[in-house]
Amino acid sequence: MVEEAALAPLAAAVDALGLSAGPVPLGSVTVAGAAVQPTGVGEFDRVLAGGLVPGSVTLLGGEPGIGKSTLLLQVLAARAASGHRVLLVSAEESAHQVRLRAERLGAVPPSLFILEGTDVNALPGAVAEIRPDLIVVDSIQSVAAGSPAPGEGRALGVPGSVSQVRECADRLVSLAKASGVATVLVGHVTKDGALAGPRALEHLVDTVLSFEGDRHYALRLLRAVKHRFGPTGELGLFEMGEAGLTAVADPARLLLGDRPSGVPGGIVLPVMQGRRTLPVELQALVTPMAQAPPKRVAIGLDQGRLVLTLAVLGQRAGVPVSDLDVFASVAGGIRVTEPAADLAIGLAVASAATGIALPTDLVAVGEIGLAGEIRQVTNLPRRLDEAARVGFTRAVVPGSAPAGPPGMELIRVQTLGEATARLGCAVGGR
Ligand code: TYD
Ligand code: MG
Repeated sequence: MVEEAALAPLAAAVDALGLSAGPVPLGSVTVAGAAVQPTGVGEFDRVLAGGLVPGSVTLLGGEPGIGKSTLLLQVLAARAASGHRVLLVSAEESAHQVRLRAERLGAVPPSLFILEGTDVNALPGAVAEIRPDLIVVDSIQSVAAGSPAPGEGRALGVPGSVSQVRECADRLVSLAKASGVATVLVGHVTKDGALAGPRALEHLVDTVLSFEGDRHYALRLLRAVKHRFGPTGELGLFEMGEAGLTAVADPARLLLGDRPSGVPGGIVLPVMQGRRTLPVELQALVTPMAQAPPKRVAIGLDQGRLVLTLAVLGQRAGVPVSDLDVFASVAGGIRVTEPAADLAIGLAVASAATGIALPTDLVAVGEIGLAGEIRQVTNLPRRLDEAARVGFTRAVVPGSAPAGPPGMELIRVQTLGEATARLGCAVGGR
């Protein structure tokens, strides 16, 4: 049982918003004020369909250490660089730490203000004083909405508790709506998206952005999970470097730069991430089974799809894997869960199991059915266009695939067995 304190009356928030009490014809509602403010960080604006909307609240979620504070400091600095006043509420890091980081990023514009502290009640005063047009609160889990008198119980619990996070978010949303200042909240999320805080906030805010990647790699992906002011299909790509985040213009360079050639088990597949196509390298390795049952290790891939593909490979394509440990991974820290990766997984494992390397100018796209058939996938033309653009000249595709881009030879296959046979990595060799 958790005691919850009564919330501030809704009427006060409604008053502050100046909402009309009665119904009005929709046609008489004015649509002014919805103009977006570009922040100046291109990839961030791309994901937001242009920029932040005044008075809107955006939640930026991501695992600790992924780069949320860095990204938003750069966003603040870019917005400030164009002459706007912006405010960072830093509840996790001291002003001193933020200053050091800003220097590292080469971004200490005069109109970037910082408010150090954890009390959201200090915010309305600061907003009235500074009149910013962008506020970042870092993070929603570390602010609190009320400092209980000494000796009193903490009615709202410690910062980060569900009731604190909710209450703070409520107040920040009201403040954003009342003041018309675009507000971004940072929310830490664990690997499986747990931590009641941010997930419970998703319905409160206008936009939910997710900042993803693997801390051990430089690539970071920014996407909109929810966006009330535009589409959610865009993907922003950043590279984390010595001086912060930079836009990745050519993901192929980052993702395929270190690809070995002539090694069995490697293949490239063009995956869709939102509306963007990324060529990712998939690698498979097989070893004699150390101990039953055989290991099936999937890194960056869907474990279920790997197991399914292995079953089809053994039962329908004549590549026995039941006494092999199989390891499959996606390079670059990207997660690939789409069925379109099946064919590439199947070919990579067949190549690893037979020791026959696949051609380096080859990509593979297709979903595998349980009968061993290769099925059509979404956005095939787009995937092949991107593969051709970055220099691939051959593609293994489903039999029903439409014509490919100029300069790309299509190897149309009906079944996984046909694919392994045509590429010389069926059991029995070429
Ligand atoms: P941070 O923005 O603090 O992550 P979050 O707010 O999501 O917890 O960034 C954390 C990591 O980024 C940290 O391990 C150091 C690294 N980093 C760089 O590699 N280059 C940089 O210029 C900066 C500022 C951080
Ligand atoms: Mg941080």
